[in-house]
Order: sequence, then C-alpha cells, then structure tokens
Amino acid sequence: MPDERYWNDRYLQGHTEWDMRQVSPPLQAYFDQLPDKNIAILIPGCGNAYEAGYLLEKGFTNSTLLDISPVLIDRLREKLPPSPALKLITADFFDHRGGYDLIIEQTFFCALDPAKRPDYVEQMHRLLKPGGRLAGLLFDREFKSHAAPGDAAPVGPPFGGHLDEYKKLLEKKFRIKTLASCYNSIRPRAGTELFLIAHPWPVL
Ligand SMILES: C[S@@+](CC[C@H](N)C(=O)[O-])C[C@H]1O[C@@H](n2cnc3c(N)ncnc32)[C@H](O)[C@@H]1O
Repeated sequence: MPDERYWNDRYLQGHTEWDMRQVSPPLQAYFDQLPDKNIAILIPGCGNAYEAGYLLEKGFTNSTLLDISPVLIDRLREKLPPSPALKLITADFFDHRGGYDLIIEQTFFCALDPAKRPDYVEQMHRLLKPGGRLAGLLFDREFKSHAAPGDAAPVGPPFGGHLDEYKKLLEKKFRIKTLASCYNSIRPRAGTELFLIAHPWPVL
C-alpha cells in the first residue's frame, strides 16, 4: 500500500495526475463564505496546496499543511511565501496531533488504503476541536480502470467510493450537515464529486 516512498516517487517522477493546478472551485466558494479568518485550518495530504495560497491571500491567519512526502513539503517551502499564517509539516496524518476548527478534505481520502477508512474517521474526529468541522470533496465513483477483471481488491490509488458508504462510516463520529452532489466541480470531475460538511459528535 502507498507509503512515504511511493508518494515521494510520484512527486519526483511528476506523476501527479490529481493535481488541479488551481484552487478547487468548490473549496474556494466554501472559503469565501467563512466569516472568521482566524480559525485553525488543517489541510492533510495537502499536495501542491493551491488552497493554502488562496487562504493566505484572503487573510486567513492559521493554516497548517501536512503531507507524508518530504520531497513535496520541501518544494512547498520554496514555493509558498514564508508567513506565520502557514505552517508546513512533514508527517503521517495518522501520527499527527493537534486541535483544529476546520479540516479540509481533497483527494486525500481516496489516496488512502480503503482498510484505513475507519481510522481516517477516528483521526479526523480526534483532530477536530468541539464545534469544528470536516469539509471538502469526496469522489462519488469507482476507479475501475485501476483494477483488472476478477481482481479481489481494487488497485489504486485513487480508491473510489459512494455516498452510502461515506455516510455509514462518518455517522459513527460525525453529524453530517452536507453530503451532496457538487455543482461547481472542475469539468473533468463534474458529476463525480460530493461536497461534505460534517461536525464531530458531540455537536455544540
Ligand atoms: C492524491 S494526492 C492529493 C494532493 C492534494 N490534496 C490535491 O488535491 O492536489 C494525495 C496526497 O496525500 C499525501 N499522503 C498520502 N498518504 C498520507 C498520509 N498517511 N499522511 C499524510 N499525507 C499523505 C500524498 O503524499 C499526496 O500528496
């Protein structure tokens, strides 16, 4: 299953097909309506983190970018303007500790071994402060091209999924406010993404 070396190699070889080269429009719209610019935000599996540049530009003061790939984080340190509003961390998401008001999901869940999905939910819950929320995008599709006919398990990443499965997983630890078809995805992902907003139990 994909580990630090796997992700480093993807960045070194330029196999970053997921990279949108722009802020994700649904996330941009979500950020634009957030009233408090001082909330603590975590972007796990941040990749090239165009969202972080946008948050900085819009005056958000407390964003943490976390990724397992040191190659990627070194590149981000060179690319992003040094700012106390941006913290960069090389770490495995599952080992990270902290308290956040908002955690952003974007092509991170689908990058993880599906066997880790319950751990993802637990860890998101652990990292969110009471009253916080997990927000972002989840694929509503399978990636069949990655599995040979008759394969027992899907090959990936990315690993696909669907609304009912996410609902079942998340409801153990979250009150789901929104989990619905996304209307403003980038064109190649149109109709295949769900927008999620979920609050950790207990909801304040
Ligand atoms: C498919 S990429 C998506 C990157 C970015 N979110 C985007 O949408 O462009 C998945 C990212 O998650 C990172 N990653 C994978 N497993 C991780 C883990 N356990 N902890 C932290 N980052 C991880 C990879 O290094 C990679 O940057």
